[in-house]
Amino acid sequence: MTSNAAPNPTLALAGVSKTLGGVKLFTDVNLQLHSGQSLAVVGESGSGKSTLLHIMAGLDQADTGEVLWADSAIHTLNTSQVAAKRLRHVGLVFQAYYLMPHLSAQQNIELPFLLAGEQPNTQRCLQLLEQVGMAHKAVSFPREMSGGEQQRVAIARALALNPPLILADEPTGNLDEDNAERVLQVLLQACSAQGCALVMVTHSLKAAGHLNKQLSLTEHRLV
Ligand SMILES: Nc1ncnc2c1ncn2[C@@H]1O[C@H](COP(=O)(O)OP(=O)(O)O)[C@@H](O)[C@H]1O
Ligand SMILES: [Mg+2]
Repeated sequence: MTSNAAPNPTLALAGVSKTLGGVKLFTDVNLQLHSGQSLAVVGESGSGKSTLLHIMAGLDQADTGEVLWADSAIHTLNTSQVAAKRLRHVGLVFQAYYLMPHLSAQQNIELPFLLAGEQPNTQRCLQLLEQVGMAHKAVSFPREMSGGEQQRVAIARALALNPPLILADEPTGNLDEDNAERVLQVLLQACSAQGCALVMVTHSLKAAGHLNKQLSLTEHRLV
């Protein structure tokens, strides 16, 4: 059966605002992102980019407004419902990587499968390691990797379950130019080949220029 109805956006924000520690970060943020689209969010340090990304991920709550993942308004779900939904809907790349220290690179990438109650797809995990240029470190532990190498493993982990939405916080921040280019291509290929929607926070205007759309967090507005 086919439907002519336009699909829901993969991510939508409506009237989102946030104040932290008495400081207004942003107000009335509205956006819609569909399958295959990519958005770069730029802005000065401290402007609230990471906070906005965490709100998109349902890790932080907006003071006002709504965040929707496809057909789900996440403020209507309880914490464990959001966590279960996030596992399938969102691939997250944090500024601080957050790899599991006691797991190897490959095991870190296999972890989302285990959390989802699935047998890890070893072939996919090895292919992702290859894509981010980390196949030679499959059995290495995070403490044996540089920051940039950990970031590349974190990106592979975010893509493991092929989520519709990828949220990446400064994913190229710790990488040299060649590796920054490589991970950008991996993320953009996930958009073009798998139809992911991507939001990437970056201070690099060059990296931002590779994405479909660029918005700036300036004077408390996303413009
Ligand atoms: N838990 C918190 N309590 C109070 N202020 C915070 C908290 N987390 C972040 N901030 C402040 O909010 C501002 C925005 O932080 P952040 O979203 O990390 O900005 P960016 O990612 O753009 O650098 C910063 O000034 C930061 O110091
Ligand atoms: Mg930040």
